[in-house]
Amino acid sequence: MTSRNLSVPNHHAHYPHFIGFGGLLAAASMVLGRQSDARLAAQRSGLHPGDTVVDIGCGPGAAARHAARLGARVTGVDPARVMLRVARLLTRSRSVRYLAGSAEQLPLPDGATSVVWTIASVHHWSEVDAGLSEARRVLAPGGRFVAIEKQTQPGARGHASHGWTDEQAEAFAERCRAHGFTDVAVGQHSTGRRQTVSVTAATL
Ligand SMILES: C[S@@+](CC[C@H](N)C(=O)[O-])C[C@H]1O[C@@H](n2cnc3c(N)ncnc32)[C@H](O)[C@@H]1O
Repeated sequence: MTSRNLSVPNHHAHYPHFIGFGGLLAAASMVLGRQSDARLAAQRSGLHPGDTVVDIGCGPGAAARHAARLGARVTGVDPARVMLRVARLLTRSRSVRYLAGSAEQLPLPDGATSVVWTIASVHHWSEVDAGLSEARRVLAPGGRFVAIEKQTQPGARGHASHGWTDEQAEAFAERCRAHGFTDVAVGQHSTGRRQTVSVTAATL
């Protein structure tokens, strides 16, 4: 990352896609140790039984399964076939389904859900504005939106840079406001062994 793109919230948009054996290893690495982020997403969205959740960039589905255990119906969306395969293998709940798609083109009708969340995914979106426009489109009035990323430090490199600096979280929050989300807030959290940053927002 260079100092020029420090405030870009999708700074790894051109990261190689999760495919093949490398993708499978990545999926395996995301199966365990994701509970703290899932709990944070549920808490930040005020999730309650009867909610419907769209988990954008669901990966192998840890947060989707967590939402189902809390009584929600969940649609996990991910562009990576290997992620969807692992997610389906690991999911027994009939309240969860997985669909191929991307943040920029959600395979869902308008107003389909009460909650949209996305964990460790926005920094990979190819088009942040298209993703936010889609998140707004599929949220019903009164919907809640949560984006969570690992908190990273300016100048971090390699895997340590996969997340958001505080500045990138603020830049994303600004884009949420520009898309008409209300009650936009940035938060910092200690989840498990790592620091995370969240952006929460709502639709009228
Ligand atoms: C680091 S993984 C996080 C997976 C999961 N949310 C978790 O926390 O375990 C990032 C995920 O975002 C997905 N992704 C990448 N680009 C995306 C896009 N444009 N729209 C939606 N998801 C995307 C990847 O396929 C991958 O599953």
